Amino acid sequence: HRPFHYRNRRLHCDGVDLTTLAAEQGTPLYVYSAEQIIHRLSLFGEAFAGRAHTVCYSVKANSSLAILRLLAEQGAGFDIVSGGELERVRKASKAALKRIVFSGVGKQVWEIDAALKADILIFNVESEAELALLAERAKLLGKRARFALRVNPDVFADTHPYISTGLREHKFGIDIGLARAIYRKAAKSAWLDPAGVSVHIGSQIRSVEPFAAALKRVLALIGELKQDGMDIRYVDAGGGLGIEYGAGPFDPETQVKGYAAALQRIFSEAGLDPHLLLEPGRFIVAQAGALLTQVLYVKKNGAKTFVITDAGMNDLIRPSLYQAHHEILPVKQSKGAEDVVDVVGPVCESGDFFARDRAMPKVKRGDLVVLLDAGAYGMSLSSNYNTRFRPAEVLVEGDEARLVRRRETMKDLLGPEILT
Ligand code: LLP
Repeated sequence: HRPFHYRNRRLHCDGVDLTTLAAEQGTPLYVYSAEQIIHRLSLFGEAFAGRAHTVCYSVKANSSLAILRLLAEQGAGFDIVSGGELERVRKASKAALKRIVFSGVGKQVWEIDAALKADILIFNVESEAELALLAERAKLLGKRARFALRVNPDVFADTHPYISTGLREHKFGIDIGLARAIYRKAAKSAWLDPAGVSVHIGSQIRSVEPFAAALKRVLALIGELKQDGMDIRYVDAGGGLGIEYGAGPFDPETQVKGYAAALQRIFSEAGLDPHLLLEPGRFIVAQAGALLTQVLYVKKNGAKTFVITDAGMNDLIRPSLYQAHHEILPVKQSKGAEDVVDVVGPVCESGDFFARDRAMPKVKRGDLVVLLDAGAYGMSLSSNYNTRFRPAEVLVEGDEARLVRRRETMKDLLGPEILT
């Protein structure tokens, strides 16, 4: 199932014509396919069918309330990293609060309190100091906090250095060699329930070996903790499953199956059967979304041709920040000549580009183009830099398009500021 496809030479998202949609909603516009999101979630369900598991979708990938509600209705849990994301889940679905895992290296008192009161499933604790604070707040609120230490397994994952997290030199997690002693100490507290062990080695990881290596180390630790008499019921394998950003061959179903098989093998080797938590973000939403934008100008500087769009790095920062590749398609399919161009935004930085020296069909002022695979870490990483409105968002359900975030207004931009 490919949500973005040509029909009668015009690009559609499922049953919705993007030319019509742009005329109705303006640009830049994020467009998401509900069907694709549900399909991606279901791939995990099928691949892990033999094992007790919960898919805790990583909210940071795309935190649209409409998408969170869609996923909650399918039974998903959520991986959150802030009090703000907790409130998003609450707003999307009260029932999903009990399926929350709370990650992050910098949890604040108010965030811990809010999560304790919401009775979330488990805290993924990233330092001894955080664990001490969790015990203190749990005692104060009269709650017993279920926690997992997020261990740092010292496993190398081949991905962009900004999104690799599982090496000792990274700020994430607790050195796996120190974890057992910390669990032992914590187990003595009446306010702490050592319920799981968690790991997350990074993002956009395309091979299964590093996931398997990390899980193997985690299960060895769980074995030791069981010997110590602890009732470890959960193992959180994190997120990080990568997608194909280029136009290469890609079968997501085979990929999830391979990932599941690799993890299952490690479980049977270890002879352990805890409830598995997964935290995929990108894999669920990236390819369900695209950024629809209009060409403002085409200009030549020296030997280079620049296509200037009304979307910029403030709307989609992945090319600038990670040298990420996003396919760019004209909304009106063309058989005509190609051009080698830089596709850039209006923001006043040379780093504001979507593609450099890219061969693509010739476009002109007023044409529409889309940036594909923009459903993850697109809108959620957007900003108002250059005092620009962020894009509106539309969720496509079959041949219906529903506005799920309106375009910002001047009041949204300037409202919080104080002039005396
Ligand atoms: N769990 C934890 C603890 C995480 O830190 C992350 C992502 C995930 C799960 C979800 O990972 P995913 O399945 O989406 O790979 N902005 C970057 C990606 C940053 C990832 C941050 N952590 C990008 O656009 O590539």
